[in-house]
Amino acid sequence: MALVLAGAAPLAAQTTPTLRQAAAARGIPIGAAASDGEYGPSNDWLANPQYASVLSTQYDMLEPDNAMKWDVTQPTIDTYNFVPGDTLVAFAQKYGMLVRGHNLCWYQQLPGWLVPSSGTGGYASTASEAQMSTLLQNHITAEVTHFAGQVFAWDVVNEAFSDSTPTTLRDSIWYNKPGIGASTGNGAATDTGYIEQAFRWAHAADPNALLFYNDYSIEGPGPKFTAVLNMVTDFVSRGVPINGVGFEMHLELGGYPSPAGLAQNMQQLAALGIQVHITEMDVRLQLSNGTATQAQLTQQVQIYQNIMTVCLQQPNCTAFQVWGVSYNDSWIPSAFPGYGAALPFDFNYQPTQAFTALLTALQTPESAPVLKTTGVVNSAGYQGGAVAPGEILAIFGVGYGYGPADPVNYQLDANGMFPTSLGGVQVFFDGVPAPLSYAQAGQVNAVVPFEVAGKQQTVIAYRYYYNGGPAPGPLPGLSINSNAVTMPVVAAVPAIFALNASGSGPGAIENWPDYSINSASNPVGANGYIQIFGTGGGTVVGGAADGALAPGAAWLSASPTWPTATIGGLPATVTYAGSAPGLVNGVLQVNLQIPQGLTPGPQPVVITIGSAQSQPGITVAVK
Ligand code: G3I
Repeated sequence: MALVLAGAAPLAAQTTPTLRQAAAARGIPIGAAASDGEYGPSNDWLANPQYASVLSTQYDMLEPDNAMKWDVTQPTIDTYNFVPGDTLVAFAQKYGMLVRGHNLCWYQQLPGWLVPSSGTGGYASTASEAQMSTLLQNHITAEVTHFAGQVFAWDVVNEAFSDSTPTTLRDSIWYNKPGIGASTGNGAATDTGYIEQAFRWAHAADPNALLFYNDYSIEGPGPKFTAVLNMVTDFVSRGVPINGVGFEMHLELGGYPSPAGLAQNMQQLAALGIQVHITEMDVRLQLSNGTATQAQLTQQVQIYQNIMTVCLQQPNCTAFQVWGVSYNDSWIPSAFPGYGAALPFDFNYQPTQAFTALLTALQTPESAPVLKTTGVVNSAGYQGGAVAPGEILAIFGVGYGYGPADPVNYQLDANGMFPTSLGGVQVFFDGVPAPLSYAQAGQVNAVVPFEVAGKQQTVIAYRYYYNGGPAPGPLPGLSINSNAVTMPVVAAVPAIFALNASGSGPGAIENWPDYSINSASNPVGANGYIQIFGTGGGTVVGGAADGALAPGAAWLSASPTWPTATIGGLPATVTYAGSAPGLVNGVLQVNLQIPQGLTPGPQPVVITIGSAQSQPGITVAVK
């Protein structure tokens, strides 16, 4: 029995969506800073069940508050401690969350052996520039290598620009006291030499991680943002590996960027191909008797709503994070005595008005469809960042407010082909309309045209016809277009469909030769064979027509890097890898023989094509 591969399960109707669900429908990760006792039991917030529940249900991203900073990760010059970071990574993986790394190079929270809390003495006080350079390189290399594949983005350098004279860098052991020998100190662009070097070391350690410069007071136009923009412009022009800028967004009622100013800053960075992450948002209120007035909360609501709205409107704003899970773990009261009530969840882990502000913004469509690269993911494994020829994608967010209210599943046309217009929706790759399998406001599943094969990148755009009609071309007033985004094209992004469309758990797998669906009650035996269904395998020998049903078995063109596979960590013989006869071109079928020696029960199955692995968490039932 061939498996019917529908779109990812649409969100069930919710009375009060979580921030995680609402943000997923807009194609943007939403996160919070998290602590797991990196400084001891007093801040082991992850051990609190209410904290853990809010973090894992309301957010799909987390960022260690302190666990990946120098004073935790390098307790002595010769030792590293990544245990607190590993614990947060494990928590994130358990709940399908992204992890943002923070931070690799900062002038604060340095270990006592390097800079004693007194500020004098320590290794930095006598080290040469060369010694400091080696120290920083070793630290960045060790930490980024350790978390490679687990941390999708890093704050490589944090808060390097001076507040008083923003065109220069603040004094620090990395810049000029003594520095790493990479800056001239003359205030010119070369002043950023140590920053550049830190980015280069981080990229060398994990070429797949997104690398960010992170700072505060750069969210609106001003001399500090201009200094950062000049640095980023210089870096981009010279090929320094930088992907984004973090806008910390530590705000108060008397200090926050205007929506127009924030949008302008984001657009100036977008012009350089640079992403923006809102990294540390909180809006502190000066409390009286420990509480905030409704007038204060109303202003705070407007600020939260404005910032989220601008982020949703700007295609290059690709992550939104708050700095803490609840009032309990917020840094604000200790840093700003008398202030608090800064976050979307209160002391009792209940949603605040700031929560409602964010949810309202997330549930309000923009004036036009906004396509974000973060919304373009593999429909089986939800991996993002790049696309492969024939990959069946799920594209979240762009259709929010601009798509069919009810789900529309494909119908083969008279020629037995998948449609390139569904429910009024079209998705273009370099102007080529893609076959569609599913469309609903907020999610569309599209098959990447095989024509992108061999290209370095592809330009993706979305169009919606209000009348739901066919697509003779853009019809002013009857159709509306999104912005276009450019994404890298790679040979393969292999992923295996989960039976419940969640991206994890029992895979879409048939036992061979009876084609029965593999399950705990229908396991496969040792030496038996299975057929696995996924997508992202790339091109097939002899080519494949976009949107057509595969007429027969066609091997992947992955030669000479033939697919390999493991089940339960043991090598499994690949007896076939290619198109799935009778299913749309783009569905990947891989046939495997079950290795001997496996423990009965659910066993993880992973397919590797070249350097690309299918997502973790898919299992096959073995008897
Ligand atoms: O409680 C422990 C104590 O037991 C331990 O002995 C001591 C060792 O230093 O640390 C104490 O913990 C404090 C920690 O917060 C836990 O709350 C640290 O003293 C204190 O330095 C630390 O402050 C952190 C602050 O950065 C340092 O500037 C905050 O947690 C953290 O939220 C804050 O985060 C920064 C971002 O990294 C960068 N952007 C600004 C943001 C706010 O400053």
